[in-house]
Amino acid sequence: MAKDTVTITDNRTGKSLECPIKKGIHGPPVFNCQKIASELDLFTFDPAFVTTASCESKITFIDGEKGILLYRGYPIEQLAKNSTYIEVCYLLLNGELPNKGQLDSFSDSVCRYTLVHEGLLSFYKGFRHDAHPMAMLLGVVGALSGYYPDAQDIKNPEHRRESSLRIIAKMPTIAANCYKYLIGQPYVYPRNDLTYVENFMHMMFSVPAEPYQFNESAVKAFKIMLILHAEHEQNASTSTVRLAGSSQAHPFSCVAAGIATLWGPAHGGANEAVIRMLQEIGDSKNIPAFIKKVKDKDSSVRLMGFGHRVYKNYDPRATIIRESCHNLLDELDPGKQQPLFDIAMELERIALSDEYFIERKLYPNVDFYSGIILSALGIPLKMFTVMFAVARSVGWVSQWMEMMEEPNLRIGRPRQLYTGSAQRDYVSIEKRS
Ligand code: CMC
Repeated sequence: MAKDTVTITDNRTGKSLECPIKKGIHGPPVFNCQKIASELDLFTFDPAFVTTASCESKITFIDGEKGILLYRGYPIEQLAKNSTYIEVCYLLLNGELPNKGQLDSFSDSVCRYTLVHEGLLSFYKGFRHDAHPMAMLLGVVGALSGYYPDAQDIKNPEHRRESSLRIIAKMPTIAANCYKYLIGQPYVYPRNDLTYVENFMHMMFSVPAEPYQFNESAVKAFKIMLILHAEHEQNASTSTVRLAGSSQAHPFSCVAAGIATLWGPAHGGANEAVIRMLQEIGDSKNIPAFIKKVKDKDSSVRLMGFGHRVYKNYDPRATIIRESCHNLLDELDPGKQQPLFDIAMELERIALSDEYFIERKLYPNVDFYSGIILSALGIPLKMFTVMFAVARSVGWVSQWMEMMEEPNLRIGRPRQLYTGSAQRDYVSIEKRS
């Protein structure tokens, strides 16, 4: 029996199958179970993909037990401290940090694509004035597919590269337009003399009537937020983008599918849900009663911003965001009371010393503190997940690009365990009870 294999035996028949084990660079090895169906007439059953590696990837590594996150091998802490968002985009897309010339040329290319077609602006007007901006983002990014028919030619590497740059460049413009529509202000056109982060803030916050003054601490905190949310391997929205892409769909529609998945409160919508939860708690003295509700199996209340499928330790992004939160709040308004931040820190302290959370290894995730930073940056609650989507768009397109370069790409198509009615004959309506 080969050493690097796993043997699966069907005890009903005694038939066995040796499955080869494949090792990655870090993390648990996998065994290839693709022949199980043909050889043993069995499917593997893994609802919610808890133990399934759906692809090979060179982009991101997470060690959930140790709380490690690497983009292309680089620790997230080092990137958040030293890098710019656009440099991280280059790294994620291309696999290496750029030299000066490569970075300049990449930034210029992204700048070339920041404008959106004027026709796209009419889509916003079709939305109700109080529509959720994630609904707008989803619709408008989907509509973008109609403006770039060439991008449908996904076999062409040049078209794929151009589509990726377009997504990275246009997401801030589309997101800022959602915000402007929401508050009834005129859309602000991109400025290519600004950095990616400054330009995004300019489109969000400036008005034609007066110049916009950048606050350095706010720009820095915003940059960190974008870097921390840029990529996170095969999470629900990224897996959605990959699955949509596997059918060779238009890349912008794949991104729209990712946006739809991100919206849910179990995923990117958690940053909005955390703030609503903190507002509902209202005061640190109400935390014990809230925690009691969370632990009550009949209540279905969750401590939002806590727990993660992969991290069974501190989410390293939460640690960076908490520090960034401290710095930003101190710099923007030294000495000012920060009631939500105070409640969040007390909630974290109480939860981390509670047996329920310790036993289940539930720690703060990236969303626990991100909403507080976004609020301090002047971003309204409804826009939080939109900010996440802008940041994550580079992760989506990097994963999509990697998948499209696979020589033997096949459509993603999971199987099922059927538990419905056994085969039966149609009964005419007169004979039904
Ligand atoms: N509050 C209370 N209990 C929790 C929580 C929580 N936030 N998260 C997990 N649990 C409990 C859960 O009830 C279960 O307990 P038991 O074993 O007694 O049934 C156990 O922990 C395992 O939970 P699970 O739901 O099976 O874990 P999962 O890996 O399927 O879900 C999760 C992961 C992130 C969806 C979940 O932890 C959660 O709902 N957290 C709150 C929402 C949130 O913060 N989401 C953001 C995730 S990070 C950013 C992103 O992905 O976008």
